[in-house]
Amino acid sequence: MKTLFKNIKELIQVRTEPISFVSGKQMNVLPTIKNAFLLVENGVISNFGSMQDCPTITTDKIVDASGKLVLPSWCDSHTHLVYAGNREGEFVDRINGFTYEEIAARGGGILNSAKKLQETSEEELYQQSKVRLKDIIHSGTGAIEIKSGYGLTVEAELKMLRVIKRLKETFPIEIKATFLGAHAVPLKFKNNKKGYLQLLINDMMPKISEEKLAEFVDIFCETGYFTVEDTELILRAGIKNGLTPKIHVNQFTAIGGVKAGVKNGALSVDHLEVMRNEDIEVLKGTSTMPVALPSCSYFLSIPYTPARKMIDAGLPLALASDYNPGSSPSGNMNFVVATACIKMKMTPEEAINAATINGAYAMGLEKEVGSITVGKKANLLLTKPIPSYGFIPYAFGNPQIEKVYLKGL
Ligand code: NIG
Ligand code: FE
Repeated sequence: MKTLFKNIKELIQVRTEPISFVSGKQMNVLPTIKNAFLLVENGVISNFGSMQDCPTITTDKIVDASGKLVLPSWCDSHTHLVYAGNREGEFVDRINGFTYEEIAARGGGILNSAKKLQETSEEELYQQSKVRLKDIIHSGTGAIEIKSGYGLTVEAELKMLRVIKRLKETFPIEIKATFLGAHAVPLKFKNNKKGYLQLLINDMMPKISEEKLAEFVDIFCETGYFTVEDTELILRAGIKNGLTPKIHVNQFTAIGGVKAGVKNGALSVDHLEVMRNEDIEVLKGTSTMPVALPSCSYFLSIPYTPARKMIDAGLPLALASDYNPGSSPSGNMNFVVATACIKMKMTPEEAINAATINGAYAMGLEKEVGSITVGKKANLLLTKPIPSYGFIPYAFGNPQIEKVYLKGL
Protein backbone atom coordinates (compact mmCIF):
# COMPACT_ATOMS: atom_id res chain seq x y z
CA MET A 1 0.00 0.00 0.00
CA LYS A 2 1.47 3.32 -1.14
CA THR A 3 0.02 6.69 -0.14
CA LEU A 4 1.33 9.98 -1.44
CA PHE A 5 0.61 13.20 0.43
CA LYS A 6 1.20 16.05 -1.98
CA ASN A 7 1.09 19.84 -1.96
CA ILE A 8 1.56 19.85 1.84
CA LYS A 9 1.62 23.50 2.82
CA GLU A 10 4.26 22.70 5.48
CA LEU A 11 5.68 19.38 6.60
CA ILE A 12 6.62 19.74 10.26
CA GLN A 13 9.33 18.09 12.40
CA VAL A 14 11.43 16.86 9.49
CA ARG A 15 14.54 15.05 10.69
CA THR A 16 16.59 13.69 7.82
CA GLU A 17 19.21 12.41 10.26
CA PRO A 18 17.59 10.48 13.12
CA ILE A 19 17.88 12.17 16.53
CA SER A 20 17.05 10.91 20.01
CA PHE A 21 15.76 14.14 21.55
CA VAL A 22 16.36 17.87 21.57
CA SER A 23 17.43 20.00 24.53
CA GLY A 24 18.07 23.62 25.48
CA LYS A 25 18.25 26.04 22.54
CA GLN A 26 17.72 23.18 20.06
CA MET A 27 14.20 22.85 21.42
CA ASN A 28 13.35 26.12 19.71
CA VAL A 29 14.34 24.72 16.32
CA LEU A 30 11.58 22.91 14.45
CA PRO A 31 12.74 21.89 10.98
CA THR A 32 10.07 22.02 8.26
CA ILE A 33 9.69 21.82 4.50
CA LYS A 34 7.23 24.15 2.81
CA ASN A 35 5.26 22.90 -0.22
CA ALA A 36 6.24 19.31 0.45
CA PHE A 37 5.39 15.73 -0.42
CA LEU A 38 5.44 12.68 1.81
CA LEU A 39 5.36 9.08 0.65
CA VAL A 40 4.14 6.29 2.90
CA GLU A 41 4.70 2.64 1.99
CA ASN A 42 3.18 -0.17 4.02
CA GLY A 43 2.68 2.05 7.03
CA VAL A 44 6.21 3.47 7.04
CA ILE A 45 7.56 6.83 5.88
CA SER A 46 9.59 6.01 2.78
CA ASN A 47 10.36 9.40 1.23
CA PHE A 48 9.66 13.11 1.63
CA GLY A 49 10.90 16.42 0.31
CA SER A 50 9.97 19.50 -1.70
CA MET A 51 7.11 19.19 -4.18
CA GLN A 52 9.54 20.00 -6.98
CA ASP A 53 11.34 16.72 -6.17
CA CYS A 54 8.15 14.68 -5.88
CA PRO A 55 8.68 11.43 -7.77
CA THR A 56 6.25 10.44 -10.51
CA ILE A 57 5.11 7.04 -9.37
CA THR A 58 1.96 5.00 -9.24
CA THR A 59 0.37 4.93 -5.79
CA ASP A 60 -2.73 3.40 -4.27
CA LYS A 61 -3.87 6.68 -2.81
CA ILE A 62 -3.14 10.38 -3.18
CA VAL A 63 -3.96 12.89 -0.45
CA ASP A 64 -3.99 16.47 -1.63
CA ALA A 65 -2.88 18.46 1.42
CA SER A 66 -3.10 21.91 -0.16
CA GLY A 67 -3.29 24.57 2.56
CA LYS A 68 -2.81 21.95 5.26
CA LEU A 69 0.11 20.91 7.47
CA VAL A 70 1.37 17.42 8.22
CA LEU A 71 3.16 16.60 11.46
CA PRO A 72 4.03 13.50 13.46
CA SER A 73 1.20 12.49 15.76
CA TRP A 74 1.51 13.36 19.44
CA CYS A 75 3.64 11.11 21.66
CA ASP A 76 2.07 10.97 25.11
CA SER A 77 4.67 9.41 27.41
CA HIS A 78 2.73 9.56 30.70
CA THR A 79 -0.84 8.38 31.18
CA HIS A 80 -3.01 6.33 33.52
CA LEU A 81 -5.67 5.79 30.85
CA VAL A 82 -6.77 2.41 32.24
CA TYR A 83 -8.99 3.16 35.24
CA ALA A 84 -12.44 2.34 36.52
CA GLY A 85 -15.17 4.94 36.91
CA ASN A 86 -14.45 8.58 37.58
CA ARG A 87 -13.92 11.00 40.47
CA GLU A 88 -16.14 13.92 39.67
CA GLY A 89 -17.30 13.93 43.32
CA GLU A 90 -13.77 14.85 44.40
CA PHE A 91 -13.70 17.48 41.67
CA VAL A 92 -16.66 19.17 43.33
CA ASP A 93 -15.01 18.74 46.76
CA ARG A 94 -12.01 20.66 45.46
CA ILE A 95 -14.27 23.37 44.05
CA ASN A 96 -15.69 23.60 47.57
CA GLY A 97 -12.25 24.22 49.05
CA PHE A 98 -10.65 20.88 49.88
CA THR A 99 -7.14 20.27 48.55
CA TYR A 100 -6.00 17.23 46.57
CA GLU A 101 -3.89 16.19 49.59
CA GLU A 102 -6.84 16.57 52.02
CA ILE A 103 -9.08 14.45 49.82
CA ALA A 104 -6.40 11.77 49.55
CA ALA A 105 -5.82 11.78 53.31
CA ARG A 106 -9.46 10.86 53.99
CA GLY A 107 -9.40 7.84 51.66
CA GLY A 108 -10.19 9.60 48.40
CA GLY A 109 -7.72 9.99 45.58
CA ILE A 110 -5.74 7.00 44.37
CA LEU A 111 -7.28 4.69 47.01
CA ASN A 112 -10.76 5.65 45.83
CA SER A 113 -9.85 4.70 42.26
CA ALA A 114 -8.19 1.49 43.49
CA LYS A 115 -11.36 0.43 45.28
CA LYS A 116 -13.44 1.02 42.15
CA LEU A 117 -10.94 -0.85 39.98
CA GLN A 118 -10.74 -3.84 42.29
CA GLU A 119 -14.52 -4.19 42.04
CA THR A 120 -14.54 -3.92 38.23
CA SER A 121 -14.12 -6.96 35.98
CA GLU A 122 -11.28 -7.14 33.48
CA GLU A 123 -13.77 -7.05 30.60
CA GLU A 124 -15.55 -3.98 31.95
CA LEU A 125 -12.21 -2.25 32.62
CA TYR A 126 -11.18 -2.98 29.02
CA GLN A 127 -14.46 -1.57 27.69
CA GLN A 128 -14.13 1.65 29.69
CA SER A 129 -10.48 2.08 28.71
CA LYS A 130 -11.12 1.36 25.05
CA VAL A 131 -13.47 4.34 24.84
CA ARG A 132 -10.76 6.63 26.22
CA LEU A 133 -8.11 5.22 23.91
CA LYS A 134 -10.31 5.73 20.83
CA ASP A 135 -10.94 9.27 21.99
CA ILE A 136 -7.28 10.21 22.36
CA ILE A 137 -6.39 8.59 19.03
CA HIS A 138 -9.08 10.75 17.49
CA SER A 139 -7.58 13.85 19.09
CA GLY A 140 -4.14 13.15 17.64
CA THR A 141 -2.14 10.82 19.89
CA GLY A 142 -0.17 8.21 17.96
CA ALA A 143 1.97 6.70 20.72
CA ILE A 144 1.16 6.36 24.38
CA GLU A 145 2.47 5.03 27.66
CA ILE A 146 -0.09 3.61 30.09
CA LYS A 147 0.55 2.84 33.76
CA SER A 148 -0.91 0.39 36.21
CA GLY A 149 -1.19 1.68 39.79
CA TYR A 150 -4.92 1.74 40.51
CA GLY A 151 -4.94 -1.96 41.44
CA LEU A 152 -2.66 -2.09 44.46
CA THR A 153 -3.20 -5.85 44.90
CA VAL A 154 -1.43 -8.57 42.94
CA GLU A 155 -4.66 -9.50 41.19
CA ALA A 156 -5.82 -6.00 40.36
CA GLU A 157 -2.42 -4.77 39.18
CA LEU A 158 -2.16 -7.76 36.83
CA LYS A 159 -5.72 -7.06 35.68
CA MET A 160 -4.72 -3.51 34.69
CA LEU A 161 -1.60 -4.67 32.89
CA ARG A 162 -3.53 -7.33 30.97
CA VAL A 163 -6.02 -4.70 29.86
CA ILE A 164 -3.10 -2.58 28.62
CA LYS A 165 -1.76 -5.62 26.77
CA ARG A 166 -5.14 -6.23 25.14
CA LEU A 167 -5.35 -2.59 24.05
CA LYS A 168 -1.85 -2.95 22.61
CA GLU A 169 -2.88 -6.03 20.64
CA THR A 170 -6.14 -4.51 19.41
CA PHE A 171 -5.33 -0.93 18.38
CA PRO A 172 -2.82 0.27 15.79
CA ILE A 173 -1.36 2.89 18.18
CA GLU A 174 2.06 2.29 19.80
CA ILE A 175 1.56 1.46 23.49
CA LYS A 176 4.14 1.02 26.26
CA ALA A 177 3.17 -0.35 29.67
CA THR A 178 4.47 0.77 33.06
CA PHE A 179 4.16 -1.04 36.37
CA LEU A 180 3.20 1.55 39.00
CA GLY A 181 2.33 -0.73 41.92
CA ALA A 182 4.02 1.86 44.15
CA HIS A 183 1.40 4.50 43.45
CA ALA A 184 0.00 4.58 46.99
CA VAL A 185 0.13 2.34 50.05
CA PRO A 186 -3.14 0.37 50.14
CA LEU A 187 -5.26 0.46 53.32
CA LYS A 188 -4.42 -3.14 54.16
CA PHE A 189 -0.76 -2.15 54.47
CA LYS A 190 -1.43 1.20 56.11
CA ASN A 191 0.97 0.46 58.96
CA ASN A 192 3.22 -1.84 57.00
CA LYS A 193 4.58 -0.02 53.97
CA LYS A 194 7.66 -2.27 53.97
CA GLY A 195 5.37 -5.28 53.63
CA TYR A 196 3.69 -3.70 50.61
CA LEU A 197 7.03 -2.93 48.99
CA GLN A 198 8.05 -6.55 49.53
CA LEU A 199 4.79 -7.68 47.89
CA LEU A 200 5.58 -5.50 44.87
CA ILE A 201 9.11 -6.81 44.63
CA ASN A 202 8.65 -10.48 45.50
CA ASP A 203 5.17 -11.23 44.16
CA MET A 204 4.20 -8.75 41.50
CA MET A 205 7.44 -7.98 39.65
CA PRO A 206 8.41 -11.59 38.84
CA LYS A 207 4.90 -12.28 37.48
CA ILE A 208 4.98 -9.10 35.39
CA SER A 209 8.36 -9.95 34.00
CA GLU A 210 7.37 -13.55 33.30
CA GLU A 211 4.21 -12.53 31.42
CA LYS A 212 6.08 -9.60 29.79
CA LEU A 213 3.34 -7.25 30.92
CA ALA A 214 5.42 -4.08 31.29
CA GLU A 215 8.48 -2.30 29.93
CA PHE A 216 8.85 0.27 32.71
CA VAL A 217 8.64 0.53 36.49
CA ASP A 218 7.38 3.70 38.19
CA ILE A 219 6.86 4.99 41.76
CA PHE A 220 5.17 8.05 43.28
CA CYS A 221 8.13 9.57 45.14
CA GLU A 222 6.37 12.14 47.30
CA THR A 223 5.87 13.22 50.90
CA GLY A 224 3.14 11.00 52.34
CA TYR A 225 3.52 8.38 49.59
CA PHE A 226 6.97 6.86 48.98
CA THR A 227 10.38 8.10 50.16
CA VAL A 228 13.63 8.41 48.22
CA GLU A 229 14.77 5.22 49.93
CA ASP A 230 11.60 3.38 48.78
CA THR A 231 12.18 4.79 45.31
CA GLU A 232 15.72 3.40 45.09
CA LEU A 233 14.52 0.04 46.35
CA ILE A 234 11.72 -0.24 43.77
CA LEU A 235 13.76 1.08 40.86
CA ARG A 236 16.59 -1.37 41.55
CA ALA A 237 14.17 -4.28 41.89
CA GLY A 238 12.51 -3.17 38.67
CA ILE A 239 15.83 -3.17 36.84
CA LYS A 240 16.52 -6.70 38.11
CA ASN A 241 13.19 -7.72 36.59
CA GLY A 242 14.01 -6.12 33.25
CA LEU A 243 11.96 -2.94 33.83
CA THR A 244 13.38 0.49 33.01
CA PRO A 245 12.75 3.17 35.68
CA LYS A 246 10.47 6.21 35.28
CA ILE A 247 9.27 8.20 38.28
CA HIS A 248 6.54 10.51 39.53
CA VAL A 249 8.54 13.11 41.40
CA ASN A 250 8.56 16.72 42.71
CA GLN A 251 4.80 17.13 42.22
CA PHE A 252 4.12 18.76 45.59
CA THR A 253 7.49 18.62 47.38
CA ALA A 254 11.14 18.23 46.40
CA ILE A 255 12.71 15.51 48.51
CA GLY A 256 15.62 14.33 46.38
CA GLY A 257 13.79 11.93 44.09
CA VAL A 258 15.11 13.51 40.89
CA LYS A 259 18.67 12.66 41.93
CA ALA A 260 17.62 9.10 42.82
CA GLY A 261 16.00 8.76 39.40
CA VAL A 262 19.06 9.98 37.53
CA LYS A 263 21.32 7.77 39.66
CA ASN A 264 19.27 4.71 38.73
CA GLY A 265 19.19 5.54 35.03
CA ALA A 266 15.54 6.62 34.89
CA LEU A 267 14.36 7.13 31.32
CA SER A 268 12.21 9.98 32.57
CA VAL A 269 11.36 11.98 35.68
CA ASP A 270 7.81 13.27 35.53
CA HIS A 271 5.73 16.10 37.08
CA LEU A 272 8.48 18.44 38.38
CA GLU A 273 6.09 21.19 39.42
CA VAL A 274 8.49 22.01 42.26
CA MET A 275 12.07 22.29 41.01
CA ARG A 276 15.05 23.36 43.09
CA ASN A 277 18.27 24.50 41.39
CA GLU A 278 19.95 21.28 42.49
CA ASP A 279 17.24 19.23 40.74
CA ILE A 280 17.96 21.09 37.50
CA GLU A 281 21.71 20.66 37.97
CA VAL A 282 21.50 16.93 38.52
CA LEU A 283 19.62 16.45 35.23
CA LYS A 284 22.20 18.26 33.09
CA GLY A 285 24.04 16.09 30.59
CA THR A 286 22.13 12.93 31.52
CA SER A 287 19.96 10.64 29.43
CA THR A 288 16.97 11.19 31.75
CA MET A 289 14.11 13.11 30.13
CA PRO A 290 12.24 15.60 32.35
CA VAL A 291 8.50 15.43 31.62
CA ALA A 292 5.99 18.20 32.36
CA LEU A 293 2.27 17.54 32.75
CA PRO A 294 0.50 20.89 32.31
CA SER A 295 -3.04 19.46 32.34
CA CYS A 296 -2.42 18.27 35.90
CA SER A 297 -1.25 21.74 36.96
CA TYR A 298 -4.28 23.24 35.27
CA PHE A 299 -6.78 20.83 36.78
CA LEU A 300 -5.37 20.89 40.33
CA SER A 301 -4.40 24.58 40.25
CA ILE A 302 -0.86 23.77 41.30
CA PRO A 303 2.28 25.41 39.88
CA TYR A 304 3.37 24.59 36.33
CA THR A 305 6.72 22.92 35.76
CA PRO A 306 9.24 25.77 35.31
CA ALA A 307 9.86 24.95 31.66
CA ARG A 308 11.52 28.25 30.81
CA LYS A 309 14.07 27.92 33.59
CA MET A 310 14.79 24.30 32.67
CA ILE A 311 15.11 24.79 28.92
CA ASP A 312 17.17 27.95 29.41
CA ALA A 313 19.49 25.88 31.63
CA GLY A 314 20.03 23.57 28.63
CA LEU A 315 17.72 20.73 29.63
CA PRO A 316 15.39 18.83 27.30
CA LEU A 317 11.69 18.67 28.18
CA ALA A 318 8.84 16.41 27.11
CA LEU A 319 5.12 17.14 27.49
CA ALA A 320 2.55 14.51 28.39
CA SER A 321 -1.11 14.45 29.42
CA ASP A 322 -1.04 12.45 32.69
CA TYR A 323 -4.55 11.28 31.68
CA ASN A 324 -6.03 9.93 34.97
CA PRO A 325 -9.26 10.25 36.96
CA GLY A 326 -7.82 12.38 39.78
CA SER A 327 -5.46 15.03 38.52
CA SER A 328 -6.00 15.16 34.76
CA PRO A 329 -9.20 13.61 33.42
CA SER A 330 -8.19 14.56 29.90
CA GLY A 331 -5.77 12.95 27.49
CA ASN A 332 -5.99 15.71 24.94
CA MET A 333 -2.48 16.54 23.76
CA ASN A 334 -3.69 19.56 21.79
CA PHE A 335 -4.68 21.11 25.09
CA VAL A 336 -1.32 20.08 26.61
CA VAL A 337 0.62 21.77 23.80
CA ALA A 338 -1.52 24.92 23.98
CA THR A 339 -1.29 25.11 27.78
CA ALA A 340 2.49 24.69 27.64
CA CYS A 341 2.66 27.72 25.36
CA ILE A 342 0.10 29.81 27.21
CA LYS A 343 1.00 29.02 30.83
CA MET A 344 4.60 27.78 30.69
CA LYS A 345 5.81 30.24 28.07
CA MET A 346 7.13 27.57 25.78
CA THR A 347 7.30 28.59 22.14
CA PRO A 348 5.23 26.57 19.64
CA GLU A 349 8.52 25.08 18.37
CA GLU A 350 9.50 23.97 21.88
CA ALA A 351 6.07 22.62 22.67
CA ILE A 352 5.83 20.63 19.42
CA ASN A 353 9.32 19.18 19.93
CA ALA A 354 8.37 18.32 23.52
CA ALA A 355 5.16 16.57 22.46
CA THR A 356 6.69 14.62 19.57
CA ILE A 357 10.35 13.60 19.49
CA ASN A 358 11.04 14.20 23.21
CA GLY A 359 7.85 12.39 24.19
CA ALA A 360 8.84 9.48 21.97
CA TYR A 361 12.23 9.32 23.71
CA ALA A 362 10.57 9.37 27.15
CA MET A 363 8.92 6.05 26.30
CA GLY A 364 11.78 4.49 24.35
CA LEU A 365 10.07 4.98 20.99
CA GLU A 366 12.37 7.56 19.44
CA LYS A 367 13.40 5.15 16.70
CA GLU A 368 9.79 4.41 15.74
CA VAL A 369 7.84 7.67 15.97
CA GLY A 370 8.05 11.38 16.87
CA SER A 371 9.49 12.83 13.66
CA ILE A 372 9.21 12.77 9.89
CA THR A 373 12.14 10.45 9.22
CA VAL A 374 12.48 7.71 6.61
CA GLY A 375 11.83 4.33 8.24
CA LYS A 376 9.59 5.66 11.03
CA LYS A 377 5.95 4.68 11.39
CA ALA A 378 3.61 6.91 9.43
CA ASN A 379 1.70 8.09 12.49
CA LEU A 380 0.68 11.49 11.25
CA LEU A 381 -1.60 14.46 11.78
CA LEU A 382 -3.15 16.23 8.83
CA THR A 383 -4.40 19.62 9.93
CA LYS A 384 -7.32 21.61 8.61
CA PRO A 385 -6.29 24.51 6.35
CA ILE A 386 -4.44 26.74 8.87
CA PRO A 387 -2.01 29.64 8.51
CA SER A 388 0.94 28.11 10.44
CA TYR A 389 1.87 25.53 13.07
CA GLY A 390 1.73 28.26 15.70
CA PHE A 391 -2.01 28.36 15.05
CA ILE A 392 -2.38 24.93 16.70
CA PRO A 393 -1.64 26.15 20.27
CA TYR A 394 -2.98 29.64 19.51
CA ALA A 395 -6.44 28.34 18.68
CA PHE A 396 -6.60 26.46 21.99
CA GLY A 397 -9.73 24.43 22.57
CA ASN A 398 -10.54 24.38 18.85
CA PRO A 399 -9.09 21.20 17.39
CA GLN A 400 -7.16 21.92 14.20
CA ILE A 401 -6.70 18.29 13.17
CA GLU A 402 -8.63 17.10 10.14
CA LYS A 403 -7.42 13.51 10.07
CA VAL A 404 -5.19 11.21 12.05
CA TYR A 405 -3.17 8.48 10.34
CA LEU A 406 -1.79 5.48 12.19
CA LYS A 407 0.68 3.42 10.19
CA GLY A 408 -0.42 5.31 7.14
CA LEU A 409 -4.10 4.43 7.45
O1 NIG B 1 0.30 11.54 38.08
N1 NIG B 1 0.60 11.89 41.32
C1 NIG B 1 0.31 10.73 41.27
N2 NIG B 1 -0.48 10.11 40.42
C2 NIG B 1 -1.36 10.71 39.48
C3 NIG B 1 -2.65 11.12 40.09
C4 NIG B 1 -3.32 10.02 40.72
C5 NIG B 1 -4.75 10.26 41.12
O2 NIG B 1 -5.09 11.29 41.71
O3 NIG B 1 -5.53 9.34 40.85
C6 NIG B 1 -0.68 11.85 38.78
O4 NIG B 1 -1.04 13.00 38.89
FE1 FE C 1 0.84 10.38 36.64
